[in-house]
Amino acid sequence: MPEPLDAALTEVRALLLDPALTRAVAAGRRRGHRPSVVRAELRPVTLKAGPRLQISTSDGARPYTRNVAPGVEAGAAVDALLAEPFGNWHVETADATLQLRVTKSGEAQVHRAAASRPAAEPGGHDREKDYLLDPGDPIFAEIGGSAAKRRQVDAFLRALAATLPDDLTGPLRVVDLGCGNAYLTFAAHRYLTARGLDVELVGVDVREDQRRRNTELAERLGWADQLHFVAGTIADAVVEPAPDLVLALHACDTATDEALARAVRWGARWVLAAPCCHHDIAAQLRARPAPAPYDLLTRQGILRERFADVLTDALRAGLLRLHGYRAEVVEFVDSRHTPRNLLIRARRIGTAPTDAQRAEYRELVDQWQVTPRLETLLSGAGTDGPAA
Ligand SMILES: C[S@@+](CC[C@H](N)C(=O)[O-])C[C@H]1O[C@@H](n2cnc3c(N)ncnc32)[C@H](O)[C@@H]1O
Repeated sequence: MPEPLDAALTEVRALLLDPALTRAVAAGRRRGHRPSVVRAELRPVTLKAGPRLQISTSDGARPYTRNVAPGVEAGAAVDALLAEPFGNWHVETADATLQLRVTKSGEAQVHRAAASRPAAEPGGHDREKDYLLDPGDPIFAEIGGSAAKRRQVDAFLRALAATLPDDLTGPLRVVDLGCGNAYLTFAAHRYLTARGLDVELVGVDVREDQRRRNTELAERLGWADQLHFVAGTIADAVVEPAPDLVLALHACDTATDEALARAVRWGARWVLAAPCCHHDIAAQLRARPAPAPYDLLTRQGILRERFADVLTDALRAGLLRLHGYRAEVVEFVDSRHTPRNLLIRARRIGTAPTDAQRAEYRELVDQWQVTPRLETLLSGAGTDGPAA
């Protein structure tokens, strides 16, 4: 089924900048357009100077190859290629293959598949190189968790790796909101410190028993000076100083809104939130008829629920844009590891929203007569930060 081209290219962008990228090729042209090069090939290389993204283009006569540094430079080079009217993208990562073809009507026909390697069998051994963090790392024996959880958390960390600039230096203040048994919190600590960052991490959960258990675990691992746990609500828990990076993995229902609102009030530089269940907008859609001509979208319960999920996350991303963030919604892990596999990823750019962005948001909520929880939480939001 054709998909909106912009969203599909956003997905391609995330894969091209993912450390798991193995190879990508762009070629062909869209109807009525001609790209400035006939073909582009991207692959990761390791040079004396460190890891680079190698981009080889051909104008049909001569090849041209350059190596760009990960982070801002790679992001800009990838954006320039994505802006070219190529007709096809083929992207391979360690986990997945994505094939995108632009249709005559300018939509994306996308084929996604797991990478052509044997998938890990339940109870079998996953291959080490498929993970950002070595599954044999002794911390996993301590923190427990299923193979699916480990895969989920590892994928979340990959998205984090693709978000933070490569030249980032510490100290980095991080909070994990709704941390539960803190699988992500511990794994994030391991990953960020392995990057050489001086990290201060706080896990917040409303459950006191989780705070106690997680604190004991941090002490056993010898991390208690950098890793703290607080029992309290996402909205009010004391986290000082304000964090630079906010993580939230499957904070239930509107707890994700609380996490996003808190991140905005802190002025956090980066936010990664994978939403869980969505009940708030679904209940509002149930309470009143859909605006014409959209009744077919919400008449059946299951369609209404799925539509509510999409509307909720689209409005969350829209609200983040209105509050000075560049925000995108991506799939961070294959749905076989969790059906809750969307990730709202945002970076503070600090610019005021345009009138068009405000109007686009307002028209959507007015038309559907919904008030997202996040809008309520952010109304009149100042900042408690911002982090440096
Ligand atoms: C589905 S669990 C996810 C836990 C963990 N992030 C993970 O992915 O394994 C959601 C957690 O959020 C916590 N939680 C839900 N609402 C909260 C709130 N408003 N404030 C603090 N914690 C909350 C729950 O206690 C629970 O531990």
